[in-house]
Amino acid sequence: MRHLLSTHDLARADALQILDTAEEMAAVTEREVKKLPALRGRTVVNLFFEDSTRTRISFEAAAKRLSADVINFAVKGSSVSKGESLKDTAQTLEAMSADAVVIRHGASGAPQQLANSGWIDAAVINAGDGTHEHPTQALLDAFTMRRHWAKVRGLNSIGSDLSGLRVAIAGDVLHSRVARSNVWLLKTLGASVTLVAPPTLLPLGVSSWPVAVSYDLDATLDTGVDAMMMLRVQGERMNAAFFPSEREYSRRWGFDDARLARLDSLGLKDTIVMHPGPMNRGLEISSAAADSARSTVLDQVRNGVAVRMAALYLLLSGNSSSAHGSATENF
Ligand code: CP
Repeated sequence: MRHLLSTHDLARADALQILDTAEEMAAVTEREVKKLPALRGRTVVNLFFEDSTRTRISFEAAAKRLSADVINFAVKGSSVSKGESLKDTAQTLEAMSADAVVIRHGASGAPQQLANSGWIDAAVINAGDGTHEHPTQALLDAFTMRRHWAKVRGLNSIGSDLSGLRVAIAGDVLHSRVARSNVWLLKTLGASVTLVAPPTLLPLGVSSWPVAVSYDLDATLDTGVDAMMMLRVQGERMNAAFFPSEREYSRRWGFDDARLARLDSLGLKDTIVMHPGPMNRGLEISSAAADSARSTVLDQVRNGVAVRMAALYLLLSGNSSSAHGSATENF
């Protein structure tokens, strides 16, 4: 694995290797080992053309916990505002010794362009591109689901996939790179996926995706769901003509207090409620649901650091795929 650009193109073996390596990273950091020396002398550049809290900060934390140097680039205050291109920006940063570039960009395909153009030699990690993909979000979601699913079944999560897991992903699928990356990765890992959304917030090509589609959240819950993933309504990308009123959206597609209680009445005692963040509380998810014992919102954030440590380690140490060894055995 030279770059991490999408889950659509991520082989099952590579996905499982990232998840297993993340378990090792989590185990070490949970033992309060603050830093591993694995990437000492390497430089990671966070190249963010769009705003971010979780992804940017957790990549920074992940790189620092592996002893890498981190350069944070934000468009605001940079020469991008003077018209500097992606190519020139990336080559400028690589001239400062970047070994990995973590890129978030509003244009779908920008990370692929950076990785495949030959402009730079650094490893490229997609931290979210347009409405296309957000692979490390899907990996941290899968990590969270796998841990929970293994615990429910009394198994060890290492080496296991998500076979048998029933996942519902609800909300603004049309604009969601998180939904797309989750769909491909969940399929690779053996889970079944139902997308639930208003018809206007589903992409045109959804009938060719490996998912079931529903417009009815309550009917989907009735069929049994192990992980209920709510998506953010992306106001910044929304065409108002596609959107029902907020009141109607919340009533029909929001995970509200009544639906939280409904999980109990359906006997779904182990169902988790997920959200990638940032949340629109009161719109796609109620505060009671977001803060409930079923919510994994903060676990997802926590797990994001371990998953991003694993991705950086595997890409920068040359230890991916067939050359698999323990990431932490020497520490
Ligand atoms: N989930 C996610 O990508 O959050 P940020 O936009 O805060 O990085």
